[in-house]
Amino acid sequence: MDKKGNPWHCFLSCGQNILIIVMGIGLLDPGLCCPVECNCEHLLVNCTDKQLEEFPMGIPMDTRQLVLTNNNLTYLPSVELNLLIDLVYLDCSHNILGDSLEATFIALPLVYLDLSHNNLSKITLNTFYLLTSLVVLKLSDNPNLQEIEKDSFANNTGLRQLDLSRTALIYLDVSTVSLLPSLRTLGLSFNPWDCYCPLKDFLKWVMETDIYFIDAENMTCNTPIHIHGLLLKDTEPHINLMCLTTLYERDYLFLGLVGFVIFGSGTVVAWLTGVCVVIYDRLCGSSEDEEDEEDDERHPPPKPKKTQELAV
Ligand SMILES: *[C@@H]1O[C@H](CO)[C@@H](O)[C@H](O)[C@H]1NC(C)=O
Ligand SMILES: *[C@@H]1O[C@H](CO)[C@@H](O)[C@H](O)[C@H]1NC(C)=O
Ligand SMILES: *[C@@H]1O[C@H](CO)[C@@H](O)[C@H](O)[C@H]1NC(C)=O
Ligand SMILES: *[C@@H]1O[C@H](CO)[C@@H](O)[C@H](O)[C@H]1NC(C)=O
Ligand SMILES: *[C@@H]1O[C@H](CO)[C@@H](O)[C@H](O)[C@H]1NC(C)=O
Repeated sequence: MDKKGNPWHCFLSCGQNILIIVMGIGLLDPGLCCPVECNCEHLLVNCTDKQLEEFPMGIPMDTRQLVLTNNNLTYLPSVELNLLIDLVYLDCSHNILGDSLEATFIALPLVYLDLSHNNLSKITLNTFYLLTSLVVLKLSDNPNLQEIEKDSFANNTGLRQLDLSRTALIYLDVSTVSLLPSLRTLGLSFNPWDCYCPLKDFLKWVMETDIYFIDAENMTCNTPIHIHGLLLKDTEPHINLMCLTTLYERDYLFLGLVGFVIFGSGTVVAWLTGVCVVIYDRLCGSSEDEEDEEDDERHPPPKPKKTQELAV
């Protein structure tokens, strides 16, 4: 049965939906409502390729699968979206969603979320932290996505597939991906990775992990320029060399400190030697004095002199 009604019918049933929300009772089957632009069938609402600029109104509340791909959506309204409390599958690919989508996903049991081919610029700790059922997350082809905050997926412990390919990412904290207990597939290719020492731990993890990388043959460094195009997996010698050089710089500091300590000790030893020489000299001088004393009794007795020197 095609539930797509005329606009009047849809308006009516949407009104009934609001009534249901307000009164908290199911007066009518909420599935009767379907946005005019979409096809609704078996808990699937399909609004593919409709040049939508706004999130469609009147989506049945029991919808489990919502397809909004190939439209011109710039944002997802949190209130309307989070009314769909049974939504497990959301495809918003090929839109122009921007910003970080913070506070967009609140109480949804989403298992599959496709946000690829959009205009996201940043992922933060608050973007996906309430989507604890998530298994597949596609963020590829967001050419302005420059930053994913450390541990942004920490709550998505069921995540098995994560695609971050074809973004503007130059850096990623290793724990953001390495601590995901269920991760099996990861896309990192065609990103302008900046393979300098800060990325070292991430690169080491990429070399050691046994998860599957999408397009692994195109997972390469962009900078530094002399290894442009080098596979992330092949960066070990380069990283060892480059980050050892950094270590050398630290060594210079260390060596400088050691040198200073040696110089200081040398000074102290020289001073002590000088003191000993003076004491020896005075002692010898004293014995000469003693010898002299026998000859000339006008000289002061040497003993107080000795104790004075011992005190030094
Ligand atoms: C949604 O509709 C489009 C055509 O409008 C179709 O190509 C596509 O397969 C549908 N998607 C689903 C998940 O049924
Ligand atoms: C939606 O985007 C497409 C491609 O970006 C563009 O050709 C089309 O004119 C846009 N439609 C509207 C209604 O803005
Ligand atoms: C995409 O986002 C950037 C900012 O990150 C903005 O300057 C640009 O206009 C956006 N593009 C579209 C098509 O909305
Ligand atoms: C993880 O999700 C729970 C709710 O399920 C929330 O209370 C908690 O703050 C989240 N943790 C993080 C690190 O975001
Ligand atoms: C991806 O990698 C393969 C194998 O190295 C190469 O032939 C292909 O040109 C690369 N694709 C792009 C778009 O760079």
